[in-house]
Amino acid sequence: MTTVYLRRAPFLAELARLQAAETAAARDGLQALADAVAALPESGHPWMALSQQQEDDLAMRRALLLRYLQQAATAYTAERRRHYLRRLRLALTEVRTNGVNEVNLNRWQEYDEIWTDSLWLIGDRDRSGAHLGWYWGNFVPQIPRQLMLRYTRRGDWVLDPFLGSGTTLIECRRLGRHGVGIELVEAVAQKARALIEQEPNPHRVETSVLVGDATALPLVGRFQLIIMHPPYHDIIRFSEDERDLSNAPTVEDYLARWRQAVAHIAPLLERERYLAVVIGDKYSRGEWIPLGFRVMEATLEAGFTLKSIVVKNFEGTRGKRSQQALWRYRALAGGFYLFKHEYILILKKR
Ligand SMILES: C[S@@+](CC[C@H](N)C(=O)[O-])C[C@H]1O[C@@H](n2cnc3c(N)ncnc32)[C@H](O)[C@@H]1O
Repeated sequence: MTTVYLRRAPFLAELARLQAAETAAARDGLQALADAVAALPESGHPWMALSQQQEDDLAMRRALLLRYLQQAATAYTAERRRHYLRRLRLALTEVRTNGVNEVNLNRWQEYDEIWTDSLWLIGDRDRSGAHLGWYWGNFVPQIPRQLMLRYTRRGDWVLDPFLGSGTTLIECRRLGRHGVGIELVEAVAQKARALIEQEPNPHRVETSVLVGDATALPLVGRFQLIIMHPPYHDIIRFSEDERDLSNAPTVEDYLARWRQAVAHIAPLLERERYLAVVIGDKYSRGEWIPLGFRVMEATLEAGFTLKSIVVKNFEGTRGKRSQQALWRYRALAGGFYLFKHEYILILKKR
């Protein structure tokens, strides 16, 4: 990815000149500009460079700058040409966000890293730095990363009330978001804390791990994003503790505990901000139990608007993976499909 640095005053003056020029002159001027950008650094243009950024320079990816210039150069009408030039000027000089994240909507084409589709087919998990992937039942770091890029700005506060191995807080450090995590199991919390501390903290954010029950632990603070990744009922038993959601005796009890968790946690979220719930379904006694949808309904009743249901690929628990052939046989015999997905519910607080 090559960035072009543009000396502000002469470049904007040239854009203004081309905006006012007659059609033929404007086209020639735009084409000459595009040719010079394409041929950098050989074109040796006096106010465009690929390096040596100067204070007050404007900057744009070469491919995007070229697209704007070529669109303008080949526009069918003068009105259209001026439209493209106006958009280029805006993209270079003004920042417009939706107030929730740092995406400059005037340059939305530049955010390749941020996903906007509802199907997340995630390949290898990110195992860099402190992301060791040691915890059975963790989520891949790409999940909290995407959620934070989409729903927070630098310096915002993120709460993860079912912290597990601390994946969310490791990502907080990388992205410059403050983070608070709650984990019921002391030993898990301690290990998470140690790993989070190992992760560099270039933005000097706070990342704290609290030990306790997310449905009752007294909490203060204001959060701009909450990420909840509860047990998927009893698919994995995380502890012997009866407050652990994975020990709820029935699905109805589990949902009651979930409602308590949401009622306790949701007041800490700022209005108009986002709650993301990562949840999967379960299979029990010959029946698919749609935990995801039941959890979604329960959460919506707590004053949230549903913004998206993201479906993410899922490779199953370790136990199931080692018995793949057996499970395939069971599926064929039993008339059901094997879980290959889970959900990320995106909800906005009203
Ligand atoms: C699905 S795991 C979360 C994994 C985490 N996202 C990660 O990447 O490691 C759910 C976690 O919630 C914890 N937990 C269960 N009930 C809890 C409760 N009532 N309060 C706080 N944590 C709880 C479990 O111990 C477990 O670590």
